Amino acid sequence: MFQRLQADGYNRARLRGASRPAPPSGELSKACALSVLTRRPDANDSTEGDVVLLKEKKNAGHDGILVKLQTTKQTHTHRGNLAHADIIGKESRQLVHSARGNAYRIHEPTLAEYVRLTPRLVTPIYPSDANLIVSLLDIHVDTPSPSINGSPPVEILEAGTGHGALTLHLARAIHAANPPLPKLHNYASEQEAEDPVYLGESIADLQDANNESWRTCRGAIVHTLDISSKHSEHAKKIVEGFKNGIYAGSVDFHLGDPGSWIKEQQKARKTQDPFLSHVILDLPGADTYLDVVASALHIDGLLAVFNPSITQIVECVEKIRKDRMPYLLDRVVELGASTIREWDVRAVRPRAALKKAEQKAAPDASSGAESSDVIKGQEARDDELAQDLGKNEEKWAMVCRPKAGQEVVGGGFIALWRKMEPANLSESPEPSAAATEQA
Ligand SMILES: C[S@@+](CC[C@H](N)C(=O)[O-])C[C@H]1O[C@@H](n2cnc3c(N)ncnc32)[C@H](O)[C@@H]1O
Repeated sequence: MFQRLQADGYNRARLRGASRPAPPSGELSKACALSVLTRRPDANDSTEGDVVLLKEKKNAGHDGILVKLQTTKQTHTHRGNLAHADIIGKESRQLVHSARGNAYRIHEPTLAEYVRLTPRLVTPIYPSDANLIVSLLDIHVDTPSPSINGSPPVEILEAGTGHGALTLHLARAIHAANPPLPKLHNYASEQEAEDPVYLGESIADLQDANNESWRTCRGAIVHTLDISSKHSEHAKKIVEGFKNGIYAGSVDFHLGDPGSWIKEQQKARKTQDPFLSHVILDLPGADTYLDVVASALHIDGLLAVFNPSITQIVECVEKIRKDRMPYLLDRVVELGASTIREWDVRAVRPRAALKKAEQKAAPDASSGAESSDVIKGQEARDDELAQDLGKNEEKWAMVCRPKAGQEVVGGGFIALWRKMEPANLSESPEPSAAATEQA
């Protein structure tokens, strides 16, 4: 699905409106001219390693099955086995048949489908909530361009990583700020193989060096942090598995808690200057990290705290007021309150007409016994509706109703604060403007 192109160099993205430190050396732009990978627009056929979504053709309500394609593998379904070899080489929208003759349509999963259907160790932030959070964070990045060459990258901290669901949504928001991932030429098959520069170094070493060089050129980064190595490793696989790792290069995974990580970063960067434009805390005891986060967040940067309970948001508001922290409360939003309701809108034909058509076509290997009660109930209701509306057997009727049983609901609360100039405590015994606003 990919091909190699030559990049003609690129520059850094910038965060509009946020305060930024001084630009580093201009040497980086030279290192950024790499051979790169980019997507080929005409190559839609599925290949080994791709993750595809297979949906039953005859069941519009089917959530689908996520499958990572491996030539020798089969996926077991209650409607017969699906051989991956039959899917490889096919394009999205084409059909594949199980060993029992049932048709499945091949799809490239959307981010929402992928997040919903990947195996999980912890509860993720659901796609509708993740989209709203990203929107509330008001993240803006530029594509690489000479005018912003040398600016430091936009850096976002997300603590805890969990399933990697919000991580993927954040990475999608910043993706355009980063150049395509680098890939070395296949020196073994080219004349440059004799170039002494490459002698003594394996292609893997060179690829690592190439990747490392690319990382220093990124215009935007999501740092994602979790205390649990198990969760972090699982989330890394989830991020790498989405669209062949399209967003993986934009994410740095870290282990630890926000307090120790920020202190390590300040030590490694040899400065106490703020370096983060946005911080999202989705972990227990978020109020205990507000102080250290303030030290790393740019003035005017945004802090978001996500919590299932409003009382934990109240604890943060209280702590900020009591300790006179430099945050201005922007808003508190309940998630899941305006849940996106999916509707089932499709044309159906009365069962009698359908049966006639099916008898003409190849026999269907699926038996009624395989349908779940839910599907049977739904089919019966569709049939009644079609009989009512269709009048004539040959006509189609429309089913239009809210979809039931889909896991689109999340819920919880998100509070957003903007980082203010720290109050000068020695000058005034009165609460700062920011603290007064919070009270
Ligand atoms: C509910 S999950 C986060 C879900 C995630 N935002 C997503 O969209 O998939 C909370 C995560 O916080 C992690 N965690 C708990 N305490 C932590 C701490 N002190 N520092 C860092 N991570 C922590 C847990 O291991 C867990 O993976």
